[in-house]
Amino acid sequence: MIDIHSHILPDLDDGSTSLSESLEMAREAVKQGIHKIIATPHHANGTYLNETSRVEQSVHTLNEELQLQGIPLTVYIGQEIRLYRDLLEDLDHSRIVTLNRSKYMLVEFPSSHIPNYTDELFHELGIQKITPIIAHPERNQEIKENPSRLLELIEKGGLSQVTAHSILGGFGKTIQAFSMNLCKNHLAHFLASDAHNLTNRPCVLGQAYQTLRENLGNDVADLFQQNARCVLEDHSLLKEIPVWSRRKWFKFWG
Ligand SMILES: [Fe+2]
Repeated sequence: MIDIHSHILPDLDDGSTSLSESLEMAREAVKQGIHKIIATPHHANGTYLNETSRVEQSVHTLNEELQLQGIPLTVYIGQEIRLYRDLLEDLDHSRIVTLNRSKYMLVEFPSSHIPNYTDELFHELGIQKITPIIAHPERNQEIKENPSRLLELIEKGGLSQVTAHSILGGFGKTIQAFSMNLCKNHLAHFLASDAHNLTNRPCVLGQAYQTLRENLGNDVADLFQQNARCVLEDHSLLKEIPVWSRRKWFKFWG
């Protein structure tokens, strides 16, 4: 299994706080059935700055240690990039990096809203053949209030990634139901752990996939894993047409 979103690298952000914690997180990931993880420390979110070279060094060190310890897991380079206006300039200067240096970039919004320059930035990323993957849209207030905004961003070339904890109800029943609805209606394209530690934000991706299979069937889960492989290997992925009906979604919320 492939995980495209994890805070497994030590001492870079609010994820792992030490090499030993990273190794424990790696062991837990393997228990969940994961053998490949894209490390995505926060970048430019107002608190953490983790430019490409720093992440690259950390990935190299952790992979060496994983080999020494005989843990069957490989870590790949990535970032979880908070959307900001000068992102393209930083991409040109290699200060930011895509997921395993592919055409896919993991981006996050502030939790309260979608920045007003997002549509324009997605368009400009598209010109550079970069596909933004929106991290955990189910936790964004503006998207929760108006899911058609997510649909618009997907129609503008974006993809979206739901978090394992959300599917399992870790952020409450409303977010759980909303997440399941996004997966069911092709408004999500990936499931990922977004693991931060071993305690309140552990890796539960295997359990989340199981829940997804029980509720939505094997096709959705298999497609999500196939999509994750496409990201890691830098292939194009098949985008299903989102199912959208305002009446249906209002009925759901009602
Ligand atoms: Fe994250």
